Amino acid sequence: MVTILIVFHSQTGRTKTMAQAVAKGAKSIENISTILKEARETTLDDLLNSDGLAFGSPEYFGYMAGAIKDLFDRTYYQARGRKEIFKKPYVVFISAGNDGLGALTSIERICVGYQLKKIYEPVIARGDIDEAILSRCEELGKVIAAGCEAGIY
Ligand SMILES: Cc1cc2nc3c(=O)[nH]c(=O)nc-3n(C[C@H](O)[C@H](O)[C@H](O)COP(=O)(O)O)c2cc1C
Repeated sequence: MVTILIVFHSQTGRTKTMAQAVAKGAKSIENISTILKEARETTLDDLLNSDGLAFGSPEYFGYMAGAIKDLFDRTYYQARGRKEIFKKPYVVFISAGNDGLGALTSIERICVGYQLKKIYEPVIARGDIDEAILSRCEELGKVIAAGCEAGIY
């Protein structure tokens, strides 16, 4: 079984809705299990034991949410350089009021430090979550799941 971990933070539900759509897309691929987890409850073992990672954050003050940053802060020393995480595939999805690029670039910069491998273009939602965004989130989940299942990363 291949496991995709979808980690998110959400206060008003938009990022959570996106996370659920990423999970739905991933689950549509055979032989995939998904773990959908709030960033505050996510541990180093969750990161190490999954085959692919999806990070979802709202943009707060031009940056990722503190809960996502906290996950990185809590796990960086122990995760960096571990063979289980080296070049592990990841994707990002962002919910923002009107921008989202600050949250995206801050996550991507940290993922370089973790030596994770970005495998698909991110989804940035601005404002309410519509069907088009949900469909792109499902696609994000499908792509990372199918790639992990096929072992192409
Ligand atoms: C404390 C705070 C700071 C925010 N800062 C930004 C920001 O810098 N740029 C932006 O586009 N939206 C900003 N927003 C709006 C949120 O990113 C947006 O409402 C998002 O969809 C919330 O996601 P959620 O429903 O998953 O909580 C901010 C919201 C809060 C609560």
